Amino acid sequence: MTHLKLYDEKRFDVYPELFGSFLEHMGTVIYTGVYEPGHPTATKEGFRGDVLELVKALGVKTLRYPGGNYTSSYHWEDTVGPKSDRPRCMNIAWQSIETNQFGLHEFFQWAKEAGVTNPILTVNLGTRGIDDALHELEYVNGRYDTKWANLRRRNGRDTPFEVKYWCLGNELDGPWQVARKTPEEYGRLANETSKAMKMLDPSIQTILVGSSTPNIATYPSWDFKVLMEAYDNVDFIAMHNYIDREQSQNLDKQITRASDELPTYLARSREFDKQIEEVEAIADAVKALKHSDKTMNISFDEWNVHHFSGKEPRPWEEHNPVDWCYFDLADTLLFGSMALAILRHGDRVHLSCQALLVNTIPLILTDEDGAAWANPTYYVLQSLLHNITDTTDVVESVLPDGDVYNTNLYADVPIIDQVTIDTGSAYVVYAVNRGLATQNLEVEFPVKVIGGKQETITGNIDDMNTREHPKTLPLHKVDDFSVNVGEMKQAAILPGYSWNVLTFSYE
Ligand code: AHR
Repeated sequence: MTHLKLYDEKRFDVYPELFGSFLEHMGTVIYTGVYEPGHPTATKEGFRGDVLELVKALGVKTLRYPGGNYTSSYHWEDTVGPKSDRPRCMNIAWQSIETNQFGLHEFFQWAKEAGVTNPILTVNLGTRGIDDALHELEYVNGRYDTKWANLRRRNGRDTPFEVKYWCLGNELDGPWQVARKTPEEYGRLANETSKAMKMLDPSIQTILVGSSTPNIATYPSWDFKVLMEAYDNVDFIAMHNYIDREQSQNLDKQITRASDELPTYLARSREFDKQIEEVEAIADAVKALKHSDKTMNISFDEWNVHHFSGKEPRPWEEHNPVDWCYFDLADTLLFGSMALAILRHGDRVHLSCQALLVNTIPLILTDEDGAAWANPTYYVLQSLLHNITDTTDVVESVLPDGDVYNTNLYADVPIIDQVTIDTGSAYVVYAVNRGLATQNLEVEFPVKVIGGKQETITGNIDDMNTREHPKTLPLHKVDDFSVNVGEMKQAAILPGYSWNVLTFSYE
């Protein structure tokens, strides 16, 4: 039995658009993912209707676009104007041919239809600089009778798109990046770009490139150095992290793991907690050194579990597939714990983007001219998105006597990983059972409970949703769950290896 005690007085607001996703011009994310004019479900704009339905049901409001590594050499102006005039370009980040048939206007139209209200755009600070960032911002947000705003009008859009969040480039610390920079070069460029962009449109907020991974040698000194250059003129420092099992997944072969690999893998969300706390500490050190009153927030704008591609790459073809993959229950539980690490730090992490939405380490998978279905990670994110609104708080809690386990890498890993939120009408306990055995959870609420439900994702640890069996791992309601009406103490049974959403409503 694990006892969970909630401290009602210790709570913080969750930013309502905290959990977002990401669309990049890479692989089959855009072409045959969200855009496929010949598809049987295609809308008049050529958007895949089956994918739009899945995205609407997901409930995602925040979406980063159009990259990623792609943005370090892309030219935004190639993506606007009559489709027949748009150039075919080399997407050198991902070795494919970019037709530019899906561009800025198509993105905003698609976002509207998908229910996305909070886009995040990335400007090219790899091969380009301040001038182009200003032109793009004026095109997107400009409201006056000026050159780039007028070009937008001529291209069919009178009113500004009103994009609030702007990434100042992407992963410019990485050796793989087109036009990698030193932290001093990048920090200074980002500072001046952000300053100029805010002179053009003071309503925007900007996101500084942090380390692309905690596993790069320059982490976290990159973060310190770029913040020293740009602290006063930016609003967020970016974090990225993908956790891989260090083996590619071949669907035709049995997945093999060393004896302790699974418990270790399921505990690796600890790397997220650690990384967030380290970046907070670095940002707070810069704040102190600069005698600043401003607290830097975090945009965890790329995160996920990761596997290498389940498809053969086709370099220099249109929509060359990269990273297309299935996630199994083990991946899903780690994904759930990663999301809980972000939620637990929601007082500083105000934006996050699961990467990516479709076809590349995705929530949603598609076959060209065929079906669309969801990885089980889709249902984890959906269950968070559906409960986080502008009245949601995270309630701090303790597991005073919860069971723990040890692995070669980690000590004292709680078997039950949990975060509880208060939506204003219900407490929702999100809980991962990292163990094979069923766990009993007893929760002590500060109010009397009047109703509730338990929803769970569980199964065999290697189960996955495939095109043939797309509902192997759904989020399903537990039929024999009931609450003690009028009581503050409640109990739930968490199946072995499970993601759980326990909703307890109160008056
Ligand atoms: O998988 C997405 C890619 O991963 C992004 O383009 C890049 O920022 C990261 O390295």
